[in-house]
Formats: sequence, C-alpha cells, structure tokens
Amino acid sequence: MELLEKLKNNDKLSIQEFEYLIKNRNNFYDDFANEALKIRKHYYKTDVYFRALVEISSFCKNDCFYCGLRHSNKNAHRYRLSKEEILQSVDGSYQRGFRTFVLQGGEDSEITDEFLIDLIKEIKSKYSDAAVTLSLGERDFSSYEKLKNAGADRYLLRHETNDENHYSKLHPKSMSLDHRKDCLKNLKSLHFQTGCGMMVGSPFQTDLTLAKDLYFIQELQPEMVGIGPFIPADNTPFEKYEHGDLDLTYFLLAMIRLIDHKALIPITTALSTLDKDSIVKGLAVGGNVLMPNVSPVENRKNYSIYNDKKDFEIQISGNFEKLKEKIEALGFNPNMSIGNYGE
Ligand code: 5AD
Repeated sequence: MELLEKLKNNDKLSIQEFEYLIKNRNNFYDDFANEALKIRKHYYKTDVYFRALVEISSFCKNDCFYCGLRHSNKNAHRYRLSKEEILQSVDGSYQRGFRTFVLQGGEDSEITDEFLIDLIKEIKSKYSDAAVTLSLGERDFSSYEKLKNAGADRYLLRHETNDENHYSKLHPKSMSLDHRKDCLKNLKSLHFQTGCGMMVGSPFQTDLTLAKDLYFIQELQPEMVGIGPFIPADNTPFEKYEHGDLDLTYFLLAMIRLIDHKALIPITTALSTLDKDSIVKGLAVGGNVLMPNVSPVENRKNYSIYNDKKDFEIQISGNFEKLKEKIEALGFNPNMSIGNYGE
C-alpha cells in the first residue's frame, strides 16, 4: 500500500491523503495497526512509560464548550492544591518510582509564574533525575520562558482542532486557533518537549478536520501527542452530544505513530473511561505511555472534565502494581524511568 510505504519512510502526506485514509480506515486498519506496533517496538522495544499526573487546579477562566471545568459551569466544584499538597503528591509518586510528574490544571490566574517557578525549582532540586511536565494552557512567551528556565522539561497543550471554523464552534470568540498554534510554536522554540492533540468525535468534527489535525501533527513534529474520545460533560453546551468513536480513536493512534515514529503517545484517561480494554488495544496500535492520576483522592472527583472520569485508581494501594502486572502479562515492560523522547 503506497501511502503506508510513504509513512514508513517518513515521507509527508497531504491533507487529502490523510482524509482518504480516514474515510477508508476499515480497509487499512489491520495493516496500519501492525506497522504502528512494529515502529513503536523498533524505537521503544516493549517499554511503557509511566507518568504521575497531578491535577493542581480545577479553576479555569476559559469557557470551552466541551469541558466540564468551563468557567460558566456553576455546578463544577473548584479546588486549587497548595504547594505543600502538590509536593506531597510528587514525593509520594517519587517513592513509588515515578520519574515524570505532570502538573495539569485549568487556566487559573492564581497559578502565577512565581508560584510555578518556586514549585518547579523545588521539585527539580530535590529530584534531579525526574522530569516536570506542565499542562496549564495558554500563557505568554515570557511565562513559558520563565517556566523553562526554572527547569520544566515538557509542556502539553492540545491544539484541539486544526480547522478555524471547527475551532470557533468549540470555543468562545475570545479564543483562537492562531493563538493556540502560536503557543505551541513558542513552546517548541523554547525547547520544551511539546505535546499537542485533539479529541476524537468532538461535535462538528469531520474526516477533513481530522485530516487537518494529522497534517498539523506532521508539521509541528511534537514529542508527545495526546488524543482521546470526546465524552459529553454535564452542564456544558455539548452535554447531549454523542461520545467519540472508539475504533476511530485506535485508528488515529496508529496513524499518529506512523506520522511521528518516536512520539510518546499516552493511552488517555478518556479512552480508558469508555473502553475497559483500552490498554490492550492502545498498546496494540503503538501507544507507549500511561498517566495514572496521583492527585489527592478527595480532589479527584472535582476535576471533572467529562462524565464518569476514571483514573486507574492507583492511589488505592495495590492497584498500581496490578496495572504493572497487566502490562507485563501483555508482553510489555512497565518502565518507570524519565523516558525522554527518542531515548
Ligand atoms: N471529553 C473528552 N476530552 C475532553 N477534554 C476536555 N473536555 C473533554 C471532554 N468533554 C480534553 C481536551 C483538553 C484536555 C485537558 O481534555 O482536549 O485539552
């Protein structure tokens, strides 16, 4: 298959070619999934990287139509972890072997540069063999620069959709795709290992908008790509929409591996929320990262991006070991090391 050969050789595809593959995915699924798994094994053998996810704030000034944490959701419970609470989660995870801490939150103006600089410096000085990943939304260049200088290693910022019109149907007027992409370019230029991504099956998404997403990933060459199915969230404008298609999500995971051979690709919480077999199936199409939630248990239910969110429940001791056993039983190797891109 000519397009698969192109992807194997790292040749670029056009938006039209991506759209053709997505439209006809049923014909290509098996071959593409097999090749994605081969490529992933070539670069990362059977390693599955673990990242400790700490949800540091559920406050958000934005009003994205899909997200349960949107500003106008008056029913959302809001919390913000203190520096001490964050450090406690980080310390506990370090003891359990984690060497990447992902600090994720809504766009909360109380999470200032000063707060983060202090926090990042403290984590990095205590744990020089660990990486700090931030996932805190859009900030200006000078903020990203300060966070990088403080020692942050990676930044996750999903682009959400690479189609202007689609973007405007998912977000209020105050947000723009151009600004989102500028943020990603800034992160790249500051040498953050950078992650982008999109939901699968968000309202108004089409094969063409997805093809544009793949094209964007091909252009940006991110180190990480996170995708998961859209899941309706109560008290949002999209609460009545259908969730995203699982087979399409797995196909796109394979496509992303084929586009970006060395990418770090998580099997996301959204996927695990909808599919109890997400780990088996995600690993089979080239996924190589798991991000268990290590936030304080009492806060978890309040970080409610969408309904019925699952978090691998690793805090309940024993389950984390179970997760590792499961990975091993599938012929993969749970890898707790820092797990940088391409290493
Ligand atoms: N369903 C699935 N994913 C969602 N996100 C936000 N809301 C939803 C939802 N309802 C994703 C977005 C965001 C990330 C933190 O979570 O892609 O970037």
